[in-house]
Amino acid sequence: MEKHIYPIFDRMATRSDKEQLLGQRGLMIWFTGLSGSGKSTLAVALERALQERGLLCRILDGDNIRTGINKNLGFSPADRVENIRRIAEVGRLFVDTGVITLSAFISPTRELREMARAIVGPADFLEVYVSTPLAECERRDVKGLYAKARRGEIADFTGISAPFEEPEAPALSLDTAALSVESAVGMLLRAVLPRVTL
Ligand code: ADX
Repeated sequence: MEKHIYPIFDRMATRSDKEQLLGQRGLMIWFTGLSGSGKSTLAVALERALQERGLLCRILDGDNIRTGINKNLGFSPADRVENIRRIAEVGRLFVDTGVITLSAFISPTRELREMARAIVGPADFLEVYVSTPLAECERRDVKGLYAKARRGEIADFTGISAPFEEPEAPALSLDTAALSVESAVGMLLRAVLPRVTL
């Protein structure tokens, strides 16, 4: 199928042209963690902090991906692979445009996260484990989904009836049960700013 596709990359402006235009480097900040662990909250707070510093970001999360490009996907193992594959491919386009891209998906297995890292490119991939314990995510139960999963009303629910494998060597581990959003953002900025500065 791909043999009749002729890339036009040599005619496009390069990533480095775009990074010069924006005055920043592209980077993927890949949040992983249980449902309710605080991935989206941290992504939103980090985006605000980066934008205040004149840096352009794009958040990819369930609200804009699972309701749009991935609305045909569920939570079977195969659908989770396709979910993360598309997110990583879309993320790569943003990173290649010089944008700081914040992705907030459970991405529950090492295999899924390694696929994402390989698609985005390891040099542009910063893995952040939002390590809030299951008991705390379940206590918060912001969307009421843990209660439903415990009652057997949702199949394959991550942490209850589907696995979550902890990352082995994340760049950063943030437990939102123990850290305020402000201190977590402080730690994120220290890891991110040197990577996005031209
Ligand atoms: S992922 O595993 O494919 O990375 P993703 O982050 O896109 O998951 O979606 C997780 C969100 O979908 C959860 O925060 C929750 O609101 C909702 N959800 C619905 N069903 C499930 C399920 N079976 N397991 C996990 N999350 C689910």
